[in-house]
Amino acid sequence: MQFTTSTLAAILAFTSSTVATPLQARQNALQDWKVTGVAVGTPSGRPGSYPWSSITANITDPNEINLGTAQSDGSTVIVPAGSQGINCVAKYFSKGGETPLGRTWPCDPVEDGYWTMKVLAGSSGSYSSTNFNLKFTHVADLVYQGSQYTASFEGEGHFEVGNQLAGTCGGSGVCGWGLAPGKNPVLVKANKI
Ligand SMILES: *[C@@H]1O[C@H](CO)[C@@H](O)[C@H](O)[C@H]1NC(C)=O
Repeated sequence: MQFTTSTLAAILAFTSSTVATPLQARQNALQDWKVTGVAVGTPSGRPGSYPWSSITANITDPNEINLGTAQSDGSTVIVPAGSQGINCVAKYFSKGGETPLGRTWPCDPVEDGYWTMKVLAGSSGSYSSTNFNLKFTHVADLVYQGSQYTASFEGEGHFEVGNQLAGTCGGSGVCGWGLAPGKNPVLVKANKI
């Protein structure tokens, strides 16, 4: 049998696709993140009332993160499964017409890295406290025997009153939303970045 260029190309294409599959599989094996709490508060707007709005969220990453093999001693550098972004909070001056868009907001400190939250426009294409997206980033970052090991992941979820969120507006005009009954946790697809 004589190999032509196209046969060779076909073999190479086949080889590279069989090589690519396990890498793909590893990435797809990331489990979804779990948003276990969202609290939205907007003020009444009455004279003298507290003029700040806020979105507070909690999220869990159920994945164990393998940061690779340490050059120093050959051990595997791991961030354990279950890291949580707790009390991620966007607080903004809604009375002044501001929105929480365009900023990165903090979550409580964790071991071996950090979490951040961004507020993005919802399905209407703009921000509303009743219809928005949250993009979480989990950065695993640690120093082991003098060397840095790091990996970053992100996941974005949609939150809308009438679906993921429910709550009430009181007679005073103060509104509060949380995860709707039966919607906790909201699953968020996680990707390595
Ligand atoms: C987030 O978790 C903390 C700690 O468990 C809890 O105190 C807080 O109420 C939670 N927030 C929400 C919005 O569920």
